[in-house]
Amino acid sequence: METDPTYADIVAARDILARHLPETPMWSYPALNDAVGATIYVKHENTQPTGAFKVRGGLTLLATMPARQRARGLITYSTGNHAQALAYASAVFDTLCTVVMPAAANEYKVRAVRALGSEVVLHGADLAAAQTYAESLAAERELALISVGDNPSQVAGVGTLHLEIVSAQPDLDAVIVPVGSGTSASAACLVAAELAPRCRVIAVQSSASPAGHDSWHSGSLVQRANQTVVEGLATGRGFDLPQRIMRRCLSDFCLVSDAQIAEAQLLLATHAHTLAEGAGAAALAAVLAVPSTFSGQRVAVVCSGGNANGAELAALGRNGSLAKSQL
Ligand SMILES: Cc1ncc(COP(=O)(O)O)c(C=O)c1O
Repeated sequence: METDPTYADIVAARDILARHLPETPMWSYPALNDAVGATIYVKHENTQPTGAFKVRGGLTLLATMPARQRARGLITYSTGNHAQALAYASAVFDTLCTVVMPAAANEYKVRAVRALGSEVVLHGADLAAAQTYAESLAAERELALISVGDNPSQVAGVGTLHLEIVSAQPDLDAVIVPVGSGTSASAACLVAAELAPRCRVIAVQSSASPAGHDSWHSGSLVQRANQTVVEGLATGRGFDLPQRIMRRCLSDFCLVSDAQIAEAQLLLATHAHTLAEGAGAAALAAVLAVPSTFSGQRVAVVCSGGNANGAELAALGRNGSLAKSQL
């Protein structure tokens, strides 16, 4: 798939993925709704076999890639969930996969990628440094370099989660999507434009890594400081393909702090029986940041992943005991 992805590509990806993945659940939790003042539907991408929605994109990418290219082997760069997605898909399609991850990557994600049979190279302080190194290894080893966000088939694949959301709840007022590169938020735009034009699609990013937000608001691709501790949102630049689509039909792009994301993580744990990694809680954090905007509305939040790192788990425990002592 060379051209920009379309709604039809997302429908085609749903047929591909039906062979590999069941639909993920989406639940509404009365205690969470009471706490928030809106009807919240949590789309549980944390229940994917890799613990994150990215596996939809990885499987679609490999399924639609020319066999000749697949046979050469792949290389990519990732903070962890895109890595697990490609590692999972490479195991399914019997392809060699190498992933460059930042040196301080989440050790659980590193272990999971290795256990899926891919090679992990730890390099650099952040995703940008990992990307540069992956580009040089791709040239040296003659591997197909897979971008983390600019692949039409990945956008089509992750778009299937939004088909599931809108099919289950056709009358939503809003769907809120966390953004690193923007594959999921841009796919949400394509689905909503076709099936639910009254549903606002809202993107959210950490204020400590606002490149996607600033790119969308300024209408050009910009680079920004990348200081969030929230792994899936830790990008320092805007990505061309998702930004192009979001510019056409995204309703709004907001920022939340890492502390607000941690609060939302705790609320998901205590009110929705859900262990989310930070990125998976960012959509709920966007509702909590301006509850009056969503008061009484029907809002889907994409819990995009559940691969919390050790620091996140420890903070969850600390914040949980603090909240309890204040009861
Ligand atoms: C759990 C999680 N949520 C959200 C995102 C952001 O997704 P995207 O890069 O498609 O915007 C990522 C990216 O890796 C992620 O791992």
